[in-house]
Amino acid sequence: MSAAVKVQFNNHFRKVNRTKRRYRALRGSAGSGKSVNIAQDYILKLGDPKYAGANLLCVRKVNETNRNSTYAELVGAINRIYGARAEEYWEVLRSPLSIRSRVTGNEVIFRGMNDVRDREKVKSINFAHGKLVWIWVEEATELQESDVDILDDRLRGILLNPNLYYQMTFTFNPVSAQHWIKRKYFDYESPDVLAHHSTYRQNRFIDPAYYRRMERRRLEDPDGYAVYGEGEWGELGGLIFKNFVIHDFDISFQMFDTMHIGQDFGFNHANAILTVGVKDGEFFICDEIYVHEMDTGQIIEMADRKELSKYLSMYCDSAEPDRIQMWQNAGYNATAVVKEPGSVQAQIDYLKQRKIHIHPDCVNTIKEIQQWSWKKDKKTGLYLDEPVNFMDDAMAALRYAAEPLRRPEMQYSNQRFGSW
Ligand SMILES: Nc1ncnc2c1ncn2[C@@H]1O[C@H](COP(=O)(O)OP(=O)(O)OP(=O)(O)O)[C@@H](O)[C@H]1O
Ligand SMILES: [Mg+2]
Repeated sequence: MSAAVKVQFNNHFRKVNRTKRRYRALRGSAGSGKSVNIAQDYILKLGDPKYAGANLLCVRKVNETNRNSTYAELVGAINRIYGARAEEYWEVLRSPLSIRSRVTGNEVIFRGMNDVRDREKVKSINFAHGKLVWIWVEEATELQESDVDILDDRLRGILLNPNLYYQMTFTFNPVSAQHWIKRKYFDYESPDVLAHHSTYRQNRFIDPAYYRRMERRRLEDPDGYAVYGEGEWGELGGLIFKNFVIHDFDISFQMFDTMHIGQDFGFNHANAILTVGVKDGEFFICDEIYVHEMDTGQIIEMADRKELSKYLSMYCDSAEPDRIQMWQNAGYNATAVVKEPGSVQAQIDYLKQRKIHIHPDCVNTIKEIQQWSWKKDKKTGLYLDEPVNFMDDAMAALRYAAEPLRRPEMQYSNQRFGSW
């Protein structure tokens, strides 16, 4: 492949990228390099004439989340590997998502496994050239075992090109020792399975700030750290929100009864800004800004660039009046949320009773809500009435955004669509 500018791999994935076993199961901590590695591996192979006739299917439980994960990773890999010549070698389409090598004609397509329709669609996949030979299931613990069996069934038949082989790749954080994925691929040795483990410490591209955040997690959220810091099979119980769904929805302002913004300030912790719509009492998280180690001036610049609304009320953490002032000076409609003893629990109670819809582009909010849990009493092992104090920044922004509805008596200014 003569176009390659330069491609860098982490050594600990060498075996993974060479194996032809039918299943590659990659469990690992957050940030261990799994997704980047698999994306680069596939782009090199799909663009290589040796693998002519190979096609890749990328699967997430919710199809729309492919856009910001598998698709974004593969496009990133193309740009890193091919540099300025990316377009010459690859055809990349955003709607519908698709990627095709101009050299080999090999293609990538993207699907979900969320309902009957999704499953039927997977059964009828066809390619213009060659066959479906590779499947990448990203965040594989989101899927049911039966979904994986349906996918597995798709990889069969004689392959004309002797270099081709069928293979499924799973990337995930090991969220539960009871999970089917452990039983299926990790509990016994099989010549068909390459089971792999990795942590962020083996990823040479991780920056020191990430190490510091992980160290904080180790202290503040030991159960979460075991899974997301060590990549060990964990037991993440006590989830706070289960009442959420991830799906695409129209973000026109007409759609909602009210709309506003919640902001939780942070520097070492993330600074999270969520734009939230409310319709018939249900919450819709439409958009997020989620950054680490940026000062308020930089975040305001970013919000300006993203055209965050200056008309919507923005509910912020009252502990930081100076930052609220800066947002006001920049023209944003920022106000402090009044905090009282017990208000975090009351906000959580309020939100638990409502359906929370999350737009698939809000990747950090999705990550947080899937792991935000109650603290555990070390002695009794029982969950306490207090949330874990880690990766809770988008959740704080969501709590603030709920305040004007939860406490109408506070007379927070409540912008309606008409006043845009
Ligand atoms: N080969 C690479 N070249 C350049 N940067 C890399 C490479 N591998 C990983 N990185 C960097 O490390 C970060 C984390 O890697 P990646 O997203 O692949 O981790 P992950 O194991 O998929 O994490 P998670 O479990 O959270 O999904 C990437 O965002 C990227 O900045
Ligand atoms: Mg990943």
